[in-house]
Amino acid sequence: MREYSTDRVDLRSDTVTQPTAAMREAIHGAAVGDDVLGDDPTVNELETKAAQMLGKEAALFVSSGTMSNAVAIRTHTNPGDEIITERNSHIYEYEGGGYAALSGCSVALVPANQGIMEPNDVANNIRKQAGSLSHYPNGSLVCVENTSNRGGGTCYPQDKLDAIAKIARDKDCATHMDGARLFNAVVASGTDPARIVRDYDSVSICLSKGLGAPVGSILVGSSEFIAEAHRWRKMFGGGMRQAGIIAAAGIYALENNIERLVEDHGRAQRFAESINQMKDFSVNLDAVQTNMVYVELTSGQDAKDIVSKLADKGVDLLDISPKSLRAVFHLHVTDEDVDVAIEAFRTL
Ligand SMILES: Cc1ncc(COP(=O)(O)O)c(C=O)c1O
Repeated sequence: MREYSTDRVDLRSDTVTQPTAAMREAIHGAAVGDDVLGDDPTVNELETKAAQMLGKEAALFVSSGTMSNAVAIRTHTNPGDEIITERNSHIYEYEGGGYAALSGCSVALVPANQGIMEPNDVANNIRKQAGSLSHYPNGSLVCVENTSNRGGGTCYPQDKLDAIAKIARDKDCATHMDGARLFNAVVASGTDPARIVRDYDSVSICLSKGLGAPVGSILVGSSEFIAEAHRWRKMFGGGMRQAGIIAAAGIYALENNIERLVEDHGRAQRFAESINQMKDFSVNLDAVQTNMVYVELTSGQDAKDIVSKLADKGVDLLDISPKSLRAVFHLHVTDEDVDVAIEAFRTL
């Protein structure tokens, strides 16, 4: 589905989506108030809806996934604590070191296979101040990313998620799930979202990625946690006034754009299988579980050069490393676009 005219196939990210006519209609009709004063009815409706869908008590609408993770980390930790997260997680790689600057935390990095951490590796990376003669920082928060972006859009098996949460709890750590693309995992696994996140104290979901809203993320958790998170959102400058204008798009996204993610997954799969058959490229098909495809360059080509040649053919991807590219499938990528993208690779 694509309602704006373009001659490009934009596979750089699922963040490039633009609101559809129906979503704009929802935005147009949104009732608004002053959310800093707590009386924007559309924001309140979105927060209630998200909390219910994820089986938690309360939710907080924030401007971005990065802010959601930052507020969560700040709420769960104290300066001098340590967060435990995957080596290539978004929190570690792409959020400007916010855990250090905004929360005063150090980070313990856990190795992973396609972005999925083993419970034992998490356990081995939780350090506690107690019993260390105060040598260690206090590991107090375990973060899990589901789906894992750098893992290839991979989904955590439920038993691993549950085991990691139990290990964290047993070691007196809080748990946070960066579920920027949680609904991709929901659709791919056929598991209820509340079940997936059941044992996690807080969860961040993004509305502005595969779900197609222009702006916004939601942090969910217990009422007590969200009340404290509200304070940190304010201090981070994230209190928004007539935010119902953008929250309306979020409600529309949650009501209309979840089931259709299966189409993005199907297109990603078809693209991945075709590219993997080409001699200069390889794709780890095991990792293609949702809407992302990481392409490895196997013949000494330079990723930036390939990106520029593909761009000349109207196809936009991101280079992730000197030897790898990423293609992300979203609601504006049609079946014909997939054909165009495959053909662009074939004729490089
Ligand atoms: C896994 C993950 N978490 C968090 C974010 C941050 O979201 P935002 O760009 O809205 O800050 C992203 C963005 O791509 C992401 O992929």
